[in-house]
Amino acid sequence: MQVFDVVVVGAGAAGLFCAGVAGQRGARVLLLDHAAKLAEKIRISGGGRCNFTNREAGPANFLSDNPAFCRSALARFSPRDFIRLLDRDRIGWHEKHRGQLFCDEGSEEVIRLLLRECEAGGVTLRQPCGVHAVRHGDAGFELDTDAGPVRSARLVIASGGLSIPKIGATDFGYRVARQFGHRVIEPRPALVPLTFDAAAWAPFAELAGLSLEVRASTGAGRVGGTRGEFLEDLLFTHRGLSGPAILQISSFWQPGAPISLDLAPGIDLAATLTGAKQGARRQLDTELALHLPARLAQRWLAPLGELGRRPLADVRDRDLQALATSLQRWQLTPTGTEGWRKAEVTIGGVDTRELSSQTLESRRLSGLHFIGEVVDVTGWLGGYNFQWAWASAHACAQAL
Ligand code: FDA
Repeated sequence: MQVFDVVVVGAGAAGLFCAGVAGQRGARVLLLDHAAKLAEKIRISGGGRCNFTNREAGPANFLSDNPAFCRSALARFSPRDFIRLLDRDRIGWHEKHRGQLFCDEGSEEVIRLLLRECEAGGVTLRQPCGVHAVRHGDAGFELDTDAGPVRSARLVIASGGLSIPKIGATDFGYRVARQFGHRVIEPRPALVPLTFDAAAWAPFAELAGLSLEVRASTGAGRVGGTRGEFLEDLLFTHRGLSGPAILQISSFWQPGAPISLDLAPGIDLAATLTGAKQGARRQLDTELALHLPARLAQRWLAPLGELGRRPLADVRDRDLQALATSLQRWQLTPTGTEGWRKAEVTIGGVDTRELSSQTLESRRLSGLHFIGEVVDVTGWLGGYNFQWAWASAHACAQAL
């Protein structure tokens, strides 16, 4: 039997950072991961450049059944703290869009940084190494692993969520949580493209590849539900909608609920179109293409027959208003999402009401901790999920 102070299961963002910090604080740490390749989600993140944090990250950027839970950890390890680690190691970074920070060279830089943290902490890393059983008794935790039995006083579950199973995502963390009596908020794919009924979507499928800035929202009016609204780019796909605007609202979307899109945000389209009538010789389709991508304008006018080809001055105000409303309050109900294969994260997870917000330790079983994405804390798109991984790992490591 090999004995450690702490075993961390999952060598992703949260597990690597927690193991490194705990090791540097003096704990004997074993870090296990069943995947053949280390930290693959960090590697593929941010298009290979890892959007490692968001300068503006705060509790308002996270979804959870218990929204106040993330406050403590986020306050104690801020984006600035992670930036300091990059600066210390002379890793170049840049801001791209709305506080999103990326590595200049690539995601590998972050992986190497985390490995250096582990090395400095004398962490034992075993990979690939699966865990077959977890038991708890008077001597602490006992794990049956591919590398033999292991015992530790503390066990940290950092096995992540369910997105992208082909690179190693499993429900291990949820199973361990349930085994020790924890509630798990139903995990659902989030930051994920939305799909529509094939027949209903057919007229829009020809727009695949078209991108434009929109205001997207969903979730209003549901008792207890939260409303998400984002001004971001939308992307038409063959099966539905994607792009940052849709990924953002997908986290707020409830199956069966509609989403609402303003395809011409920032202008009052009805007033603009009616105002443009005076002395205009332009056709409606030409005028509309001044405010929307031409392909979209054409697609929108197609069901209206010859109306689109009429001189703007001859189109009734009420028809222009109806057209503007259809574009600025486009309501549509997705039939589903692209699922775990395409989701960037999991919404839901280990119920935070049974965890300490200070140490991420179970209130049911002393010595058991859950950190990172396995916990019911989900960030918006834009570096927030890594910030939660770093902050929850750091908070936990202080208690190990
Ligand atoms: P993570 O998933 O990183 O690690 C979990 C580890 O546990 C994995 O190594 C896995 O192999 C291991 N594991 C699972 N089951 C196990 C088992 N049974 N036994 C042993 N080990 C097991 N976020 C962000 O802030 N900025 C970004 O740019 C991106 N980009 C991005 C792109 C894509 C394509 C995806 C899929 C996701 C992102 N994310 C992101 C989200 C981000 O990657 C994610 O939130 C964090 O990696 C979560 O960190 P964790 O350590 O909690 O899980």
